[in-house]
Amino acid sequence: MKILVIGGAGFIGSHFIESVSSKNNIELVIVDDFSTGNIENISSLPLTQEVRIVTGDFTELANLPEEHYDKIYNFAAKIDARSELISDYMNNVCITAKSIGNLKHNGEYHFMSSCAVYGCIENAKETDSPATNTLYGLSKSHSEDLINECVENKFIYRLGNVYGERQDGTRESGVISIILNCIKNNISFKMYNEGNSTRDYIYVKDVIGAILTDKEPGTYNVGTGFGLKTSEIVHPILAEYENGGFRKETDKLTLNTSKLRNLGWKPSSMTPVSFLKNSIMDHKNV
Ligand SMILES: NC(=O)c1ccc[n+]([C@@H]2O[C@H](COP(=O)([O-])OP(=O)(O)OC[C@H]3O[C@@H](n4cnc5c(N)ncnc54)[C@H](O)[C@@H]3O)[C@@H](O)[C@H]2O)c1
Repeated sequence: MKILVIGGAGFIGSHFIESVSSKNNIELVIVDDFSTGNIENISSLPLTQEVRIVTGDFTELANLPEEHYDKIYNFAAKIDARSELISDYMNNVCITAKSIGNLKHNGEYHFMSSCAVYGCIENAKETDSPATNTLYGLSKSHSEDLINECVENKFIYRLGNVYGERQDGTRESGVISIILNCIKNNISFKMYNEGNSTRDYIYVKDVIGAILTDKEPGTYNVGTGFGLKTSEIVHPILAEYENGGFRKETDKLTLNTSKLRNLGWKPSSMTPVSFLKNSIMDHKNV
C-alpha cells in the first residue's frame, strides 16, 4: 500500500509517522519543506526502500505529479491562527488542492482541519456551520470544501488544541509548549485575557488514536469535549515553578466529541497539567 504523508516532519505528523512506520507492506513517502518541521522529529525512522523523504514545498514539487497513493495524510500547513498572511492561506489551500490529485481512485484522504473553523462556540458539533473569524480558519474551511467536493473516501479531523512531546515552544501557537519553554528557559509566561480563554486541549497521541480508529468517511471533532481555561493549566504549574504576566484575549471554544467516542475512541488521562508536570520532571532529571 502506498501512503503519502505531507508535513510528516512536523509535530503531529511525526507522531503519526512513528505509529505507522513499523507496519508491514507499506510504501511510505514523506514530503516536508522543513519550514517548521524538523528532520530530528523523524530521526528514528528506518530509511529503507519502503520509506522515502522528499524535501520541498509540496505546492511546487515537480517530482510527484504522476504518483498516486492509496492513502494520503495531510498534516502540512502554516498553523499560526493569528496570521493575516494571504501566503499562509494559499499555502494551506494549495497543498490540499494539489494533493487531492495524487489520490488513487477510491483512495483515502485524511485531512487535519481545526476547531478554528467554528469560530467562537461551546460544545461545537460536526454539523454546526463553519463560522470562522480567522484567515487560518478559512484556509481549513475552504480545504474541507475542496475535499468534500472532490473526494469520496475523506476523513476530516477538526482538532482541538493539541499538545505533547516535540511541540515547538518557541512559536506563537501551542500554549502548553510555550509554558514548558518558558519554564525550561526561565522566561516569564504572558497570559492573555487574564487566563480566561477556554480551549479544548487534546494530547497528540490521542489525535493519532483518533486517526487510526476504524470509522466511516466523514468529519470528526477530536478533543476531550471539555474546556480548560488557560489559568486552570497555568496556575497549578506556576504555583510550583514560575510567576506569570497577563495580556488580553477573549473567547471560548470546546468540542462535542460524542461521534468519535461512540466508535470506542476516548482520550487518555494525559491532561495538559499532567503532561507539563511529567515534562518538567524529565527536564529536571536530565
Ligand atoms: N497543533 C495544533 O494544536 C493543531 C490544532 C488544530 C489543527 N492542527 C493542524 O494539524 C496539522 C499539523 O500541525 P502541527 O502542529 O504538527 O504543525 P507543524 O508546523 O509542526 O507541522 C506542519 C508541517 O508541515 C510542513 N509544511 C508546511 N507547509 C508546507 C509545504 N508547503 N510543503 C511541505 N511541507 C510543508 C512544515 O514544515 C511542518 O513539518 C496542521 O494542518 C495544523 O493546521 C494543529
